Amino acid sequence: MAVRLHVNIDHVATVRNARGTAYPDPLFAALICEAAGADGITAHLREDRRHIRDDDVERLRAGIATRLNLEMAATEEMIGIAERVRPDVITLVPERREERTTEGGLDVVGQRAAVEACAIMARRRGIKLSLFIAPDAAAVIASAEAGAQQVEFHTGEYCHATAPGGSPARAAEELRRLVDATRRAHAAGLEVAAGHGLTRHNVVDVAAIEGLVEVNIGHSVIADAVLFGLDRAVRDLRAALDRGTRLRPPPGRGGP
Ligand code: PXP
Repeated sequence: MAVRLHVNIDHVATVRNARGTAYPDPLFAALICEAAGADGITAHLREDRRHIRDDDVERLRAGIATRLNLEMAATEEMIGIAERVRPDVITLVPERREERTTEGGLDVVGQRAAVEACAIMARRRGIKLSLFIAPDAAAVIASAEAGAQQVEFHTGEYCHATAPGGSPARAAEELRRLVDATRRAHAAGLEVAAGHGLTRHNVVDVAAIEGLVEVNIGHSVIADAVLFGLDRAVRDLRAALDRGTRLRPPPGRGGP
């Protein structure tokens, strides 16, 4: 079975917010992703609202045809928002204000009460609960005990090792960790997703892991979109300028 692709559109909102404009619109981006074959759309509503905002989540909920995966911290505020918006999936992530991105897996044992509160709400509302964790046995077992239906393994270490200057031996070791953790998660009755740092290059070996059913990818997709889309954007701008030039009055008739 093909691995599900969930595209994270947070950084479309990052670009929009950098200028305080209405564009680029994360919902428009989500619809493009769906038309291109994404099986779901992922958005992270952070406590500081640095990219996705509350109204984005509402508009995504109303506007997309595939599945909405809402990444969030296990706080009372976020649980309330999720209960109202009703995404298809909630992914609980650790969150620190000063981090650039989600830097590690969730401490399921340390946050047990908050995770269970979220699991109770999710069950009541028919929302699937996924926990973003490190690929290790203790976190897998704690996730199953806390009431999750899915775990998403943090692939940051693996991706780091596969990057230029990384270590192939380390990458192989990290891949083995992911394979082992996937096996354990299956044995515990959990579905398995993976995400963080994945690209069209390093995703291939991850997607080949037996039993892995979903990947969540954001940064590299948006980075590729910027570079591959730049040619089209400049051509369209050139064409608009040329149209404007054609509309100028000819010299001698009020023109220059
Ligand atoms: N999965 C989770 C739970 C995340 O927090 C993130 C980062 O927001 C991703 C996947 C996507 O990571 P990346 O942007 O590196 O593809």
